[in-house]
Amino acid sequence: MIFTKDDFGPDFHWGVSTAAYQIEGAHDVDGKGPSVWDHFVSQKGKIQDHTTGNHACNHYHNYSEDVGLIQSLNIPNYRFSIAWSRIMPDGIGYINQDGVDYYNRLIDECLDKEITPWVTLYHWDLPLALQKKGGWVNREVLGWFEDYVSTCVKLFGDRVKNWMVLNEPMVFTGAGYFLGYHAPGIKGIKNFVPAMHHATLCQSLGGRIIRDLQPEANIGTTFSCSHIDPASPEPKDVKAAKRFDALLNRLFIEPALGLGYPVEDLPIARRVEDYLKADDEQNMVFDFDFVGLQNYTREVVRHNWYMPYLQGQIVKAEERDVELTTMGWEVYPKGIYKMLKKFNAYDKVKSILVTENGVAFDDQLENGHVKDPKRVKFLQSYICEVLKAKRSGVKVDGYFIWSLMDNFEWAEGYEPRFGIVYNDFETQKRIVKDSGYWYSRFLKSSKVMLNDELLKSSG
Ligand code: NOJ
Repeated sequence: MIFTKDDFGPDFHWGVSTAAYQIEGAHDVDGKGPSVWDHFVSQKGKIQDHTTGNHACNHYHNYSEDVGLIQSLNIPNYRFSIAWSRIMPDGIGYINQDGVDYYNRLIDECLDKEITPWVTLYHWDLPLALQKKGGWVNREVLGWFEDYVSTCVKLFGDRVKNWMVLNEPMVFTGAGYFLGYHAPGIKGIKNFVPAMHHATLCQSLGGRIIRDLQPEANIGTTFSCSHIDPASPEPKDVKAAKRFDALLNRLFIEPALGLGYPVEDLPIARRVEDYLKADDEQNMVFDFDFVGLQNYTREVVRHNWYMPYLQGQIVKAEERDVELTTMGWEVYPKGIYKMLKKFNAYDKVKSILVTENGVAFDDQLENGHVKDPKRVKFLQSYICEVLKAKRSGVKVDGYFIWSLMDNFEWAEGYEPRFGIVYNDFETQKRIVKDSGYWYSRFLKSSKVMLNDELLKSSG
């Protein structure tokens, strides 16, 4: 049997995702203030290929063609983020009209082309001025965030109906405030725990602000997640895997659902008590209309007594004889099915959207074409797993590919190419990859195919 897009139903949301810092460029034009990422990339040795997002895909100037491209590919939904420091260069107070005008143009362009905008309010680019006051570690971030979110909703809520409050809080707090390999490059548990708690509070606060100002809005927030297996059936590996699962997959979603932090399985999370104020536990809760699930790979975890806080470590995919992506991640389609099941098992989750899934492979531009059969296969097999989950009763209502086009992959720079459109960063020429054409045909026609074999083989 052949499956098609119709098997997902007429209301399923198909789309592509991007984020401001990764594509906009124009880092210092029209009154934009610097963000933590602008600052981070200016420091030596932070980005593997020594590049910056200063120009990226120049989407700031090319947005109209890019939205045209999305339309020409028959993609009905576009998820992008707002750069806080374009709207509020100092993070609070003064509103930069040129920045507002840009997002007005972008949103209007989408609507003119009948593409529904899905807007992420925070995709990691905190205004630098706020980082100078401690950033996410400082509890005052709640007030700053409230100001920013309400400003955006008042400015754009007449046309934007679908909002996502945060993008992957585990990643920006973990990589940015614990491990230090993302902006702002801060390390240590004493920074991570308050940053985590304030992000959790802002996640629900953002939801409440949107709901108050725009009761008809469709409100979500997004979570990174990866299925986790223990390296062996030994109890100590199984326990270590459970700790990592609590850290990577449960830490931010459970407080929002009223379950609190997963302290039983992740003892280190008890340190949050030092930062908990009266009412925080209630204030962490918000009934999101949807949960954004972002999945790429799985992790295998082994016990390691010497590893601080977690007593465990991730066994790298390259040591495991599995298919790898440019990021060194394992291709593991079944993982998205498992994570959909896991999120769906929470009673309070009303709807799940896959707000990111995709892959970086070593794409080559040859004679004006990019043949990327491995990405086509990757997307088909992951989408098959989404369908399998849906058929088994999971409330999954959308799927967005990461990413529309190759872009600035944070600390990895431009080497990993995640796009279904190739970008020539010298000329800013966009070249649709075979995967982009495949997605486009799949979305257009009820005859194009996810084949049964894939559905079975990954099952
Ligand atoms: C998750 C992040 O949201 C996005 O910014 C990043 O580029 C992709 N994953 C790929 O790593």
